[in-house]
Amino acid sequence: MADDTPKRVRTRHFQRAKENGIKITGLTSYDMLTASIFDAAGIDFLLVGDSAGNVVLGFDTTLPVTVDELMPLTRAVASTAKRAFVIADMPFGSYEAGPDEALHTAFRFMKETHAQAVKLEGGVRSAEQIRRIVSAGIPVMAHIGFTPQSEHQLGGHVIQGRGEGAEQLIADAQAVEDAGAFAVVLEMVPSAIAARVTEELKIPTIGVGAGPHVDGQLLVWTDWAGFTTGRIPKFVKQYADLATTLTDATRAYIADVTDKRYPAPEHEYDG
Ligand code: KIV
Repeated sequence: MADDTPKRVRTRHFQRAKENGIKITGLTSYDMLTASIFDAAGIDFLLVGDSAGNVVLGFDTTLPVTVDELMPLTRAVASTAKRAFVIADMPFGSYEAGPDEALHTAFRFMKETHAQAVKLEGGVRSAEQIRRIVSAGIPVMAHIGFTPQSEHQLGGHVIQGRGEGAEQLIADAQAVEDAGAFAVVLEMVPSAIAARVTEELKIPTIGVGAGPHVDGQLLVWTDWAGFTTGRIPKFVKQYADLATTLTDATRAYIADVTDKRYPAPEHEYDG
């Protein structure tokens, strides 16, 4: 939305961006400092993802993440961002039981964190939950394709929508649009299928490993900034190398302290 700069990004700006062919930009954020930097730099939306499980809380998957763990992170981001639209991710086990549970969780995020929308995983299987949340006045971003909360059922990090999976993906996309989602994340989907979904849907598609023919892009900020150590998915472009920067800084600090170069006179208080 670079050439359409609202004071505060709203769902209507997502829709307008799609209609005008302007790409939407998003990053995850889990804290006040990154939220402040990304927001001031002009990012359109910030997702407080349950990827916090992997990159903040130290779990192997997103499955153990709880609503109570995401609450303070979401509140920090939502109370910091001035322009970006802030979306709270609903964690595994907080909405699947049915529309009542989903609405209860969405209410908690909206009242206690001041996020402007919620996100949940699943297409056809989550349509009733989306419908109920939207009917209460809460915008929902849907998430289909590879859905990390189902990784054990999907057999690991497997690309979705290939071969016969294409029809299921299209059915999922149509179901979340019909249920009232304002946008849909397509994660790890072949570019050609993502292009077809983007063409067929009225709501914007946000790609995470879905190629260029979508309405916007989203990345986990620690992958994007080279902060994550370990395996980085093929679809990620790294825009910085924070892991190396911090490793070098740590080594320099250890050397300075052990060799008595730090603190120097300019770091001392007089008197
Ligand atoms: O939790 C998250 O960061 C996500 C995105 C990768 C879509 O769900």
